[in-house]
Amino acid sequence: MKVNFNFENSGILEDKIETEESKLRDYTEHLKGVLNDNSYLLDEASLYLPFETKFLAESSHLAEHFKNEKLKYILLVGIGGSNLGTMAVYNAIYGSLDCLNSNKRFPKIIFVETTSAKYLDSVFKLIDTFNSKEDFVLNILSKSGGTTETIALAELLIRKLEERFINIEDRIVVTTEENSKLHTIAQKNNYSVLTQPPKVGGRYSIFSNIGLFPLALAGIDIERLLEGAKVALVDLVNTYGSNPSLRSAVVRYIARQEGIVINNQFYFNPEMEFCGKWYRQLMGESIGKENDINGNKINNGICPIVSIGSTDLHSMAQLYIGGPRNILTYFVYSADSQINQRLPENLSLDGLVNSIENKSTVELMNAIIDGTKAAYTKNNLAYIEVDMPIIDEYTIGMYLQYQMLEIMYLAKLMNVNAFDQPNVEDYKLETKRILQG
Ligand code: PA5
Repeated sequence: MKVNFNFENSGILEDKIETEESKLRDYTEHLKGVLNDNSYLLDEASLYLPFETKFLAESSHLAEHFKNEKLKYILLVGIGGSNLGTMAVYNAIYGSLDCLNSNKRFPKIIFVETTSAKYLDSVFKLIDTFNSKEDFVLNILSKSGGTTETIALAELLIRKLEERFINIEDRIVVTTEENSKLHTIAQKNNYSVLTQPPKVGGRYSIFSNIGLFPLALAGIDIERLLEGAKVALVDLVNTYGSNPSLRSAVVRYIARQEGIVINNQFYFNPEMEFCGKWYRQLMGESIGKENDINGNKINNGICPIVSIGSTDLHSMAQLYIGGPRNILTYFVYSADSQINQRLPENLSLDGLVNSIENKSTVELMNAIIDGTKAAYTKNNLAYIEVDMPIIDEYTIGMYLQYQMLEIMYLAKLMNVNAFDQPNVEDYKLETKRILQG
């Protein structure tokens, strides 16, 4: 079962697409080579992760070690590339309101990412309800080991947990780059340590220990996730012309040249919102660049936004349809009807909205998305459709991998470095300078 991309309404002519695609033949050959290279020395090294057995084994093994009936919460401290992928998969699989299933499914991941006093207070109150140290695992994730928010929050959580329990070091797992200062301190403090290859940047790290360990511990089938990711990579090897990552990159590139400066990932399954936020980082950091790879000033990029259907149709559709024509929209939808509620034949709220009696929620959503597409077509607005047959580990793994591959292609077309983020470092350094007084 594959994630299906439909470019029919992209508004870009086929011959233009083919011309740009042909420029990427050499790069495709290079990427194919990366799939056989487990040295993790190349910029695109993350492409090897779905085939890597080492991280799968390490993460699964450590997760098995911690799994027991008492384990209720995984306190996950990390930000940006160190937590967005995990949030994307976790929310897509368990749903945005998983917190309401309070007595049903454990362990739950509690994401702690920014130094908000109110948020942290709620986490502290949750910790106050813990009965023993077996109720939790604290997973601290930082590739660099030097991110202000992550280290400050980890410190605060360790202090709080130490107030409640003794010898908590065997409940702490640190995931970081080998040889970071955090790695050294974690070992000294007897925490468990998982490593991340230096060449795998945060936004490409979901299939490394960064994502695999917390997801496995939360009960997500990480082998299926990686199996799905492999499908996107097999497409890279076998189907040059119709490889969706390649085509998507080319369509976005041509659209950008034609003045389309905004990319709207429009999800009609709200549980996929964090797939959009993860992609926002991937696109934003990878191609939003001041300089091209030769150091020439370009100040280029595409502004990625995320919309949720049908909610945002009631707040943003006026702008999207009537406003500036500078947005390329990806409608992402799964009409999976495994869970489906049906309206009654005889409505209590009869006579208000026509033709909803006896309709299912999936039928309603199908009508809304078809109506939205029809409105776009009527207004000559381009869109791409992404059909998720179902939302599970396999399809989400495939979807995320298609997008990472796409961004590598897009950066190549735009002649920018897909793997650095020099301007993010600017803010990090300035924050540290201010804290030093
Ligand atoms: O992509 C990036 O480099 C950033 O978003 C980082 O992922 C984020 O700043 C967290 O960095 P680290 O994992 O080093 O704590």
